[in-house]
Amino acid sequence: MEKEEKEGKLIEKLELREKRYIAEQLIKEKRSEEMEALEEVFDKPTLMIIYRMLNRGILKKLFGVVKAGKESRVYWGKSKEGDVAVKIYLTTSKEFRKGMLTYIEGDPRFKKVSKETRALIYLWAKKEFKNLQLAYAAKINVPKPITVEGNVLIMKFIGKAGEPAPILKETSLEKPTKIYNEILNYIHLLYNKAKLVHGDISEYNIMIWKNKPVLFDFAQAVSISHPMAYDLLYRDVKNITLYFQKLGVKTKNVDEFVKKVVENI
Ligand SMILES: Nc1ncnc2c1ncn2[C@@H]1O[C@H](COP(=O)(O)OP(=O)(O)O)[C@@H](O)[C@H]1O
Ligand SMILES: [Mg+2]
Repeated sequence: MEKEEKEGKLIEKLELREKRYIAEQLIKEKRSEEMEALEEVFDKPTLMIIYRMLNRGILKKLFGVVKAGKESRVYWGKSKEGDVAVKIYLTTSKEFRKGMLTYIEGDPRFKKVSKETRALIYLWAKKEFKNLQLAYAAKINVPKPITVEGNVLIMKFIGKAGEPAPILKETSLEKPTKIYNEILNYIHLLYNKAKLVHGDISEYNIMIWKNKPVLFDFAQAVSISHPMAYDLLYRDVKNITLYFQKLGVKTKNVDEFVKKVVENI
């Protein structure tokens, strides 16, 4: 009995080693300049996800980094659908973990929160993907979500040939009032159709492309039933209103607009 148990454990160990070996071989085979750069930043599980996507053709090519942040890196890539943005969450940031919990706990869609960081970051990426899907279905101008696996999210690339569309902060607008009203309209639609509050709307999370605002960065967006939903909505409306007020736009009264959103008028 004891002997069998020992053998069983040994087989398990060997199988594990074999799996690891295959993974390493796969990584070596796929090695290229871009991949070498990736390998310096990402851990093995992340690299495996990227290789799998490349092998399956979900991703055809992965080019350089578009933007490197504290919590994620965004790359330009190609898929069957054309240019894509590949957002890869870093799995190592401790601060990130603390920050995320505020938004995930209390959202009825994410009741079971794993205490393990990696699982939490995978959940965070999936949450951004699902939020994008909801917003996209509500006909809000957002990057079309394509797929998510682990900490890797693929969406349509907004911009041209690897050059992302400018963010609101970097743009001087021809018709600021029109853009302001469109953003408010998106906030309204987001709340009443997608049943979401973005929670981080600012001149940094809106791109201007083809004279229209594009909302992005949806990971922290919450369901309207989240206990913080109202405060986040209020803050979103206030932030964007202050930004346009400074541009000289005749802005709306924040309290009145928030009331209109909540009461769906
Ligand atoms: N779909 C996209 N198309 C083109 N560029 C994008 C896209 N999504 C993100 N980016 C670029 O990456 C940057 C960071 O993306 P964001 O989602 O805001 O990540 P973070 O959570 O790190 O703030 C953006 O400011 C933008 O320049
Ligand atoms: Mg952002």
